[in-house]
Amino acid sequence: MKAYIAGIGIYVPEKVLTNFDLEKIVETSDEWIRTRTGIRERRIVDENTATSDLAVIAAKRAIEDAGVKPGAIDAIILGTATPDMLFPSTACIVQSKIGARKVMAFDISAGCSGFLYGLGIADAMIKNGYDNILVIGAEALSKVMDFTDRATCVLFGDGAGAAVVKKNNDDESGIISSYFASDGSDWKLLHQPAGGSRIPASEESVKKRLHYIKMEGNEVFKLAVRAMIESAIETLKKANLSPKDIALLIPHQANIRIIEATAKRLDIPMEKVYVNLDRYGNTSAASIPIALAEARAEGRIKKGDYVLMVAFGAGFTWGGLLMRM
Ligand code: UT7
Repeated sequence: MKAYIAGIGIYVPEKVLTNFDLEKIVETSDEWIRTRTGIRERRIVDENTATSDLAVIAAKRAIEDAGVKPGAIDAIILGTATPDMLFPSTACIVQSKIGARKVMAFDISAGCSGFLYGLGIADAMIKNGYDNILVIGAEALSKVMDFTDRATCVLFGDGAGAAVVKKNNDDESGIISSYFASDGSDWKLLHQPAGGSRIPASEESVKKRLHYIKMEGNEVFKLAVRAMIESAIETLKKANLSPKDIALLIPHQANIRIIEATAKRLDIPMEKVYVNLDRYGNTSAASIPIALAEARAEGRIKKGDYVLMVAFGAGFTWGGLLMRM
C-alpha cells in the first residue's frame, strides 16, 4: 500500500511585481536580479489578504481535482513561515473555511521544506490508517519582506499549493521513499527575529525592523546546494535508484544557480529539471506544490515516471521525496 497525490491545486495572487518595479523601490536592477537569481517577477498579495486566503483557494482546487468532498478530508497539514498569526494555526482557519469535518489540523514550521515535510507526515499517517490528507504549502512572504533591504526583498513571492494525499492499493504509483533532516546550529543565517517569545513586539523591535526576514544569502546559498544534493542522493538510495532513473527533478525554487549546481552534481540535465522561479520568485513552502502542479499541467509528468522533489529552508531543514506517478 502506498500514499499517492490524488489531486493538486494552486493559487497565486494576481498582482505581479516585476524586477523593474523593484528598481523603483530599492537600489537594484533587473539585470542583477536575473543573473544572480533567475527571477524576473513575483506575485504579491494585497494588504487585505493573508496566507489562509491563498491556502483556502488552493485547497478547494486540490480537493476538486482529487474528486473528493471536503467532508472526506481526514487531516489538514499546512506548511508556512508566514501564518496568519502565531496562533491559532492557519490550518485551523483553512479547516473551517473549506467545510472540512472537525479533523486534526496543524501547521508545520519548516520554512521552505514545509510542504515536503507535510507530504512525509501524510505518507506516515496513511500507512497508519488515515486517508484523504490535505497537505498545503502557503505563504504571504511579502508581509515580512523589508522593502528597504535589497538583499532580501527581491527574492521572495506569495502563493499557495495544496495536495490531497490518498491510499493507493491498486498499482505502483505513490510515494516511494523520502529523507528528511534538520540542523538548528545555523538558524541565525535565515530568520525573522521578532514577534515570538524571544523578542516580543515592542516599539524598539519595530524601529529596528526586526519583524522582517533577515538572511545571510551567501552562506545560505552554500548550505542549500549541499543539502539539496544530500537530499536527492539519500532519497534515491532508499529507493535503490540513481539520478538517471528520474524523469523530472522538482527542486525548491530559491535561486537558479542553486538549482543548476544541484542538477550538475547529480548529473541530471536541465531539461529534466522543472524551473518556474522566473515567474514566482521564492515562494518558500508553496514553491514545490506550485511547480508540481505546473509541471503536470504542461505534460512534463507521465504515468509511471519517477519524480524527485528536494527542498531546503529556514531551520535549517531539508529533505527529498520520490514519487512514482
Ligand atoms: O529558500 C531557501 C533560502 N534562501 C536561499 O536559498 C537564498 C540563497 N542565497 C542566494 O540566493 C544568493 O546568495 C543571493 C541571491 C541572495 C545573493 O547572491 P550572491 O551572489 O550571494 O550575492 P552577495 O550576497 O554576495 O552580494 C554581492 C553584491 C554585494 O555587493 P558588494 O558587497 O559586493 O559591493 C551586495 O550588496 O551584490 C549586492 N547586492 C545587490 N545588488 C543589486 C545584494 N542584493 C542586491 C540587489 N541588487 N538586489
